[in-house]
Amino acid sequence: MQNVKEYISQHKDRFINELIELLKIPSVSADPAYNQDVLNTADAVKESLEKAGCDKVEICETPGYPIVYGEKIIDPNLPTVLVYGHYDVQPADPIELWDSPAFEPVIKKTDIHPEGAIFARGACDDKGQMYMHVKALEYMTSTGNLPCNVKFMIEGEEEVGSESLAWFVPRNKEKLANDVILISDTGMIANDIPSITTGLRGLSYVEVEVTGPNRDLHSGLYGGAVANPINILTQMIASLHDENNHITIPGFYDKVEELSREERDEMAKAPFSLEEYKAALDIEEVHGETGYTTNERNSIRPTLDVNGIWGGYTGEGAKTVIASKAYAKISMRLVPGQEWEEITELFKKHFESIAPKSVKVVVKPHHGGQGYVTPIDSIGYQAASKAYEETFGVTPIPQRSGGSIPIVALFEQELKSKTILMGFGLNSDAIHSPNEHFGVWNYLKGIETIPHFYKHFTELSK
Ligand code: BES
Ligand code: MN
Ligand code: MN
Repeated sequence: MQNVKEYISQHKDRFINELIELLKIPSVSADPAYNQDVLNTADAVKESLEKAGCDKVEICETPGYPIVYGEKIIDPNLPTVLVYGHYDVQPADPIELWDSPAFEPVIKKTDIHPEGAIFARGACDDKGQMYMHVKALEYMTSTGNLPCNVKFMIEGEEEVGSESLAWFVPRNKEKLANDVILISDTGMIANDIPSITTGLRGLSYVEVEVTGPNRDLHSGLYGGAVANPINILTQMIASLHDENNHITIPGFYDKVEELSREERDEMAKAPFSLEEYKAALDIEEVHGETGYTTNERNSIRPTLDVNGIWGGYTGEGAKTVIASKAYAKISMRLVPGQEWEEITELFKKHFESIAPKSVKVVVKPHHGGQGYVTPIDSIGYQAASKAYEETFGVTPIPQRSGGSIPIVALFEQELKSKTILMGFGLNSDAIHSPNEHFGVWNYLKGIETIPHFYKHFTELSK
């Protein structure tokens, strides 16, 4: 039996080229203009799973974008790993900030990736990380190293809230039955400090609309005498945090699970340099909730952030106007204990209650999802930990992430299995930003590590 390192060194150019081909398709789920590209990407994923040795591969239709399902069942008595990933990507905007076009992948060396990184939208989130699993499967099936059953479920709406997958999962429990769910759609601390993500934050996303006068007004003739919705909106938003950067929505923290001092001390052991963090972002000082460290603020604490705000005149030059309307998109990252629908309701009630009579306020809820924490004593976690030990030579650190994959909580609820988050991206890979990239080393290391997970998971399941 050929070992995975040899297999990778023989096939790595092809592995890289295949990923580059997949990255050329602009599968932007948020923008209907890319509808056909998203569908073409699903077909490309289907074909790749067939080539990698799945026995059955299907494009499963949903009310939205299809889910690509594939399986290789070698023995019903053996455990089954369900791999989840997404083939859709974030919009490339603002495109003028990319050094090379977002859908024309190029490999360039960086300080952090001296062996080169693939620059393209979706390189890390999540096409590159999803494709590691396809190539790991190819290795296992073509060399007789697949120790258990495997199912793939790759969706096309993760970046827009996974609505169709939430529809699909409860309707296909039998098909999706598994012993563990494996996802590579997160990150790790550094290439020499591997970590396994043990938590994800939940999310509540809302849009607000503030209406003042029934039309845009001359800011001289009316200024000072009627409410300016942009002024009011910004005051309302500013009041959502107090001087300690606590969120002021009544009831917001009621169900937050506080970590014990011991758990926080354990977390603080993860290597982290505040100086490097600030330097990487070009900021003089960090910012956040009093009483918590930077790593706590971005993982175990809930937040509220404006993601976009608009209204009035934003074109060239100056126009003297009081706009009739102002808008903002606001995300709240939630932690275990908080129910996203309840938080959305609390936000709505509070935001409406603080609006002065001079304006009308409408709060429109968007999508959301629950947070997730995975125990580190499960066999899934142990198998992942051993896999990293073998390929990185050190024990990975468990770490809660600030990002969200809202569908993970639903997997647990519907399929009753734990999710293991084996992410190989780095924070500096710029996911959702211009110049997103994924280290070639990280891509190949992922392909190398995944088969070890299968082996250990099968062993530990006995
Ligand atoms: N892969 C990310 C989530 C992620 C990245 C988690 C890095 C942990 C570390 C995922 O594609 C994503 O972007 N999720 C969205 C939520 C979704 C509902 C749009 C997010 O976190 O903003
Ligand atoms: Mn993702
Ligand atoms: Mn994403």
